[in-house]
Amino acid sequence: MESSIFEKSKSVFLDVVDPKDYVQLDRVSFIYQSLKKSVRKPLKMILLYGKPGTGKSMFLAKLHDDLSKIQPVFLYQQPIIDKSEFFKTLAKDIYNIKYNGELNFTQFSKIIEMHHKEENDIPIVLLDEAQLYSSDLMENIRLISDTRKIKFVITLHKTSQEDVIAKEHFQTRIWETIELQNASMTELKIYIQKKLMKSNCFDIANMFTNKNISLIFSLTEGNYRETNKLLYTLFEIYQWYEKNEPSKIKYSSITNKYIEMAAIHTGIING
Ligand SMILES: Nc1ncnc2c1ncn2[C@@H]1O[C@H](COP(=O)(O)OP(=O)(O)O)[C@@H](O)[C@H]1O
Ligand SMILES: [Mg+2]
Repeated sequence: MESSIFEKSKSVFLDVVDPKDYVQLDRVSFIYQSLKKSVRKPLKMILLYGKPGTGKSMFLAKLHDDLSKIQPVFLYQQPIIDKSEFFKTLAKDIYNIKYNGELNFTQFSKIIEMHHKEENDIPIVLLDEAQLYSSDLMENIRLISDTRKIKFVITLHKTSQEDVIAKEHFQTRIWETIELQNASMTELKIYIQKKLMKSNCFDIANMFTNKNISLIFSLTEGNYRETNKLLYTLFEIYQWYEKNEPSKIKYSSITNKYIEMAAIHTGIING
């Protein structure tokens, strides 16, 4: 095996959101198809909901990538907390209008009114990390949705402290809620192997046995971000052995002891 293979496998599990790295998983694909259908319904606002690391940002990036081929779509991965900034950014991106000074909701509504053309596909705005937007701004977003002139898809973090969905502005019927969850054990195996194979790391992908997957699953509960962290560190450990004690490396399967070492290193379990 060439020496860069662990290095390459490591980089597969960098925690980045790039739609080119999107892997098809049955449950995720099913949700994704229904999401694409909902996007075509005029009134619905869509809320993607789930714990950190369940793939919300990846989903949104993928949606952006796919939809941009057929209609105007705008993705905001970093929330724009300031209301005036928010409206100004949308005015510039959607309608190509540069506005100096403050822009309030009423003024922005007029801009929408003036530039909306019936024959066009309505613009879709994708907002990541929407739990960071104020209730006030969320209420404005809802009112804009009601006009059916801009469509919103938002993601929300599910936290144990607070039920964000219980907030008033999410209680109206116009929201279609889609919950993302951690991977099942089967999905986790597919996730790991497909990710590696996409980067041509076939030999490494084949080293993951059901015993390995079972251990990884028990450590990460199938959370994609936790799994990325764990595997990144695992391949860092392999790199170390490759450099310092290459005879210790077994190429038939991943050594569970190394997975445990990686878990200690990343703080998933205590050493
Ligand atoms: N369907 C998928 N295909 C490929 N990678 C994914 C997928 N879903 C999640 N990931 C990976 O998991 C990481 C965490 O997902 P992310 O979308 O950032 O979660 P969230 O936004 O819910 O916190 C991403 O950086 C990405 O590497
Ligand atoms: Mg995210």
